[in-house]
Amino acid sequence: MSEEVLFEITKENLETGLRGYPVGYCNTSYVDPVKGLFYAGKPIVDLANKSEEEVIFLLYNGREGSAEEISRFKKDLKERSTLSKALLQQIRALPREGHPMKLFATSLLLAGMFETKYDYREDCLNIIARIPAIVAAVINHHAGCGEGAPSNPELGYMENFVAMLNLPNAKKNVDLVNAMRLFNIVHYDHGGGNLSTFVGKAVASGLEDLYGSLASAICALAGPRHGRANQDCLDFVEHMQKELGESATDVQVEELLRKKLSRNELIFGFGHAVLRVEDARAAIFYDFVQKKYPTHPLVKIALQLRTVGTKVLSENPKISDPYPNVDAISGIALIAAGFPYAEYFTVLFGLSRVVGIARQIVYERYEARGGKGTPIVRPKYFYLGKEDVSG
Ligand code: MLT
Repeated sequence: MSEEVLFEITKENLETGLRGYPVGYCNTSYVDPVKGLFYAGKPIVDLANKSEEEVIFLLYNGREGSAEEISRFKKDLKERSTLSKALLQQIRALPREGHPMKLFATSLLLAGMFETKYDYREDCLNIIARIPAIVAAVINHHAGCGEGAPSNPELGYMENFVAMLNLPNAKKNVDLVNAMRLFNIVHYDHGGGNLSTFVGKAVASGLEDLYGSLASAICALAGPRHGRANQDCLDFVEHMQKELGESATDVQVEELLRKKLSRNELIFGFGHAVLRVEDARAAIFYDFVQKKYPTHPLVKIALQLRTVGTKVLSENPKISDPYPNVDAISGIALIAAGFPYAEYFTVLFGLSRVVGIARQIVYERYEARGGKGTPIVRPKYFYLGKEDVSG
């Protein structure tokens, strides 16, 4: 292959979900099949203990900020963080039926109606600053538990988010804030080609404003093959725990997995389109739960699955990635830390991912191709019917 030919398309590549097709450049992050996720060249594991604003600055600017830059950035986000009363009223008037991701996507459209500046850069910073308050309003309203505390950005990005939540059984304490911070930081971005990011950029390529583009991205994230996988993984681990009880041995976990595989049942939380090792984001959560909640019944099963699942799936040569992905453990970490609301896991994923998608849209609209921006997305499809039957 010459240097110019990056990928040769054959028939086998069609109808494969564009798997592995190079379509452009991503300026924020990349996913190495073996080393995992990097934000602006920094491995995700090195970023887990930084503040949310430091990591967002890194993604936004492609470099780490000095102490002074970070403090200015925090101030800027705080100043941008207030939601209009009209937007809050509209979110609180939405129907509460269905999955909360539907309310989330609708709220982004509403935010666009009230707050867009029709400038991707301004809207990007505004939505990063406002998304914690939008999502807290969505969750409180969907759960039917009142308005919650008003936003107080002085608390810090995720601490403010947790303080705004009004869910009766959430154990609001430092551990929950830490679990939420980790969840937020590791989900900001995952290269350019994950479905929600790709969809958001594709919609923006038609020059839809940032809010509408993000609403489409959130719809893409809502599916069980993408963002809702974390909720399904929790269901799977809960089901394993119910079947096996609280003191299951590795052998029993292995037997149940083999039984499920023999019945062609799905095993959740393993494999990834790009990764060929354990997801570095999962490793961060395994470390967190191992230190904090090693005896929690769901954590116990999840830790057993980490090794036993990998062992069993590795026996199948057709499985290219038999290792756990982030969804195998991220939701369980939230449950263990005191957030027993699985239906909001995907919403929390979206709260975070909006950051990376918004920044990638700014790149594609204003910076790509020497500032001209990328053209409207318009791939080719081969027609399968009769070609010309006019006579
Ligand atoms: C993500 O974080 O978006 C998921 O791991 C899916 C992907 O990267 O394709």
